[in-house]
Amino acid sequence: MTETHDDEIRKQFSRQAVYFNEEGRTLSSAEYLQWVVGCLNLKPDFVVLDVAAGTGHLGRAIAPRVQRVIAVDMTPEMLRQGIGEAARAGINNIVFEQGRAEKLPYFNDSFDMVVTRLSLHHFTDPHPAIREMMRVCRPGKQMGIMDMVSPDDPILAARYNRLERLRDPSHTRCLTIAELRMALKDSGLTKVEMASRNIEVNLNSWMDLTGADAEVRRIIQEELTGELEGKHITGMRPFRRDSQLMFTQTWTTAVGVK
Ligand SMILES: C[S@@+](CC[C@H](N)C(=O)[O-])C[C@H]1O[C@@H](n2cnc3c(N)ncnc32)[C@H](O)[C@@H]1O
Repeated sequence: MTETHDDEIRKQFSRQAVYFNEEGRTLSSAEYLQWVVGCLNLKPDFVVLDVAAGTGHLGRAIAPRVQRVIAVDMTPEMLRQGIGEAARAGINNIVFEQGRAEKLPYFNDSFDMVVTRLSLHHFTDPHPAIREMMRVCRPGKQMGIMDMVSPDDPILAARYNRLERLRDPSHTRCLTIAELRMALKDSGLTKVEMASRNIEVNLNSWMDLTGADAEVRRIIQEELTGELEGKHITGMRPFRRDSQLMFTQTWTTAVGVK
């Protein structure tokens, strides 16, 4: 199961890597990145670990404020893209390394801060990765997680995650805010503070990123259009802006102390 899922992750993100930095994507929005950075108590002498960092969007946003960032991810193409982006931006205090979130290749208590963004919903089980992030974080220091969350209603959550998986088979499931809070409490993280915001996503651009095929695009589009016509609620909170079909994600940042 895990090996198959790892293959799916590498397949998806090898393909997506070159598009990750495109302007106009929610993923590369400087405003959304600064929202997360603003929730973290960064200090100039910190060495920070960004887990499942991909091309290092969050790590690169953090780098100018700290001594050094290590960006770890399991997909080599994402790391390669990140190295190029960092060089282009003149950021020379970020290092990209290959590794799995569930088995981080670092000693206990090695980092002044450990963060991850938009990754938990790709893990078969987020708990082992959260435990690993806690293990490598220094006692008394912060761990920060930002991810999309599911609707609280279990029926809507199932519908929402089904459509996310249709568009990207490496999506497993977004936690609800309550599940995220519980997972962090179980890991021993204290003083957890959470903040959420709604993110407006352009449906076509979102489906373009994963190269969704025509049939998948048709199904998703029909379901969202159906909801706007008063049919089945999808959990995607669709709306129209001008002629574009849009939908709404909720992004939640949780920060606590080990
Ligand atoms: C949606 S991208 C997010 C990348 C980055 N954190 C960001 O905010 O732009 C998800 C990333 O998680 C990585 N990933 C998924 N499962 C992983 C795992 N078990 N260990 C390490 N990386 C993983 C993928 O390779 C991909 O780069």
